[in-house]
Amino acid sequence: MIIAVDGPSGSGKSSTARGVATRLGLRYLDTGATYRAVTWSAVERGLDLDDTAAVAQRARDLELEVSTDPGRQFVVADGTDITAAIREPGISEVVSKIATNLDVRHELIRRQRAIIDDAQETGGIVVEGRDIATVVATDAELKVLLTADQDARMARRGAEVSSLTADQLRDQIVRRDADDSTVSEFQVASDGAVTIDSTDLTLEEVIDVISRLAKE
Ligand code: CDP
Repeated sequence: MIIAVDGPSGSGKSSTARGVATRLGLRYLDTGATYRAVTWSAVERGLDLDDTAAVAQRARDLELEVSTDPGRQFVVADGTDITAAIREPGISEVVSKIATNLDVRHELIRRQRAIIDDAQETGGIVVEGRDIATVVATDAELKVLLTADQDARMARRGAEVSSLTADQLRDQIVRRDADDSTVSEFQVASDGAVTIDSTDLTLEEVIDVISRLAKE
């Protein structure tokens, strides 16, 4: 069983995907964390983020462990626990640049598929990201596209990152949407995806809807 949950920043996809995995007893993979981990490593090594070959090499060389336990998330890169570091605003600001590097995507998609394959032996996995239904796991049994209007997404992101002012927050969401639209060029519309607009729904309600669809 593979459940794909795709959506933009602040759509609530992380909490939703984690909640569905917990409810259904499945593993959980946050693919965004893999892009953030490569970004962290490239920044930490002082690489020129425009040097696509050097950044892609870093992606291939990185020793990366991403937890698939929905109740205990962690990311370890080259022996360093970077669970908190990859959420820093400095990483969020530049991650789209790394995510548009095609060789990085190739490498990370390969790793994501290996994690998904492993999880199949334990019953299945909920995978969240931007290109799960369209690229990473096109054979997913359930494909969900989670949306929410921009104000709702800003409010949710604001609750998570309390250090940002409203203007910084708007910048981050609006700018990352624009940066990520380059990422979407590599995607095609997914067949059979269910779109859920979470603007007026609580987290529990969205988890309920997806869990019910998964049991159908
Ligand atoms: O949760 P949020 O939307 O802030 O971001 P994320 O899921 O942690 O992903 C961070 C960035 O990684 C996104 O802005 C995309 O640029 C990239 N990403 C991607 O290209 N493909 C994915 N499957 C997941 C993330």
